[in-house]
Amino acid sequence: MADTLLAVDGLTRVFDVSAPWLNRVLEGRPRQLLRAVDDVSFSITAGQTVSLVGESGCGKSTVARLVVGLHAPSAGEIRLIRPDLRLQMIFQDPYASLNPRWRVRSIVAEPIRTLGLRSDEAAIRARVDELLGIVGLGASDGDKYPHEFSGGQRQRISIARALASEPEFLVCDEPTSALDVSVQAQILNLMKKLQRELGLTYLFISHDLSVVRHVSDVVAVMYLGRIVEEAPVETLFRRPLHPYTRLLLDTIPDLEAPRRDRTPMGGEVPSPIDPPKGCTFHPRCPLASERCRHERPELAARADAGRVACHAVEEGRHK
Ligand SMILES: Nc1ncnc2c1ncn2[C@@H]1O[C@H](COP(=O)(O)OP(=O)(O)OP(=O)(O)O)[C@@H](O)[C@H]1O
Ligand code: SF4
Ligand SMILES: [Mg+2]
Repeated sequence: MADTLLAVDGLTRVFDVSAPWLNRVLEGRPRQLLRAVDDVSFSITAGQTVSLVGESGCGKSTVARLVVGLHAPSAGEIRLIRPDLRLQMIFQDPYASLNPRWRVRSIVAEPIRTLGLRSDEAAIRARVDELLGIVGLGASDGDKYPHEFSGGQRQRISIARALASEPEFLVCDEPTSALDVSVQAQILNLMKKLQRELGLTYLFISHDLSVVRHVSDVVAVMYLGRIVEEAPVETLFRRPLHPYTRLLLDTIPDLEAPRRDRTPMGGEVPSPIDPPKGCTFHPRCPLASERCRHERPELAARADAGRVACHAVEEGRHK
């Protein structure tokens, strides 16, 4: 499709997490492989936000790192609409990704210099001031160091630096998870404003469904390295089909009935080194059947919109 900016097909990443060779030989331990991302396919339309959600360790960051090229895929492919498409990544911890010894002005100017986007110092300076303004900082903030800012302001600096390279596509890995709730809302609103004004496309990653609901066009729910359900945001929240999606939605704080007893998230996430057979969610699933224990469900089209991987849904047992 002409307006598909990114298409990911059968993406898989396996990490070798074996003990060192000598230990393996002496202790008779086998090689251990961890399938962090397992046959993941999705696409993103230009100007949209697709979000990946799921519990810690389900492979969200690994997908992000594969998409921006920080990891190589073990299998599958990542296609961009154009090979020269500029993409950038925004991380959870802005402090760790900002050089503490550089002034903000130099941090934001670096991509402009590296890519040769402005020819002289005056033009670079003017562009940095403009970028600081775009993210809600003042030109005088350029003379300060990262430690002089709050967490939310530091995230604004990383956004300004990401924008400095004039990207079309931003991969945002938990960009607000380290921030207070009120500051989170400000950064999310800034990101939405930038998307409208600059026509940006986002791959947005979060474990927090209330954040995802606020920013996404399409949501993909991941469990143990695989997408188990994907749908337009309203469809997913109005009518979640996969038992895992329902479990996740059940854990969102309900503002209208905060004291209502809710079913706790049942059970632990199994190890991705030795995942359960069949549907990997079956040990935690209230609808699990014998079929679920040995046959892995494929991601199939939902009746309304999106995709879901669940035998109970296919058999109509989920209502
Ligand atoms: N470089 C690596 N080497 C070995 N294992 C890794 C590596 N990176 C990730 N993993 C493993 O891959 C799985 C997926 O990790 P990933 O960081 O992608 O999850 P996540 O969904 O981003 O989790 P979180 O919400 O905690 O950030 C985990 O089991 C993790 O331990
Ligand atoms: S396939 Fe079976 S175990 Fe997996 S989510 Fe559906 S009903 Fe539950
Ligand atoms: Mg992560």
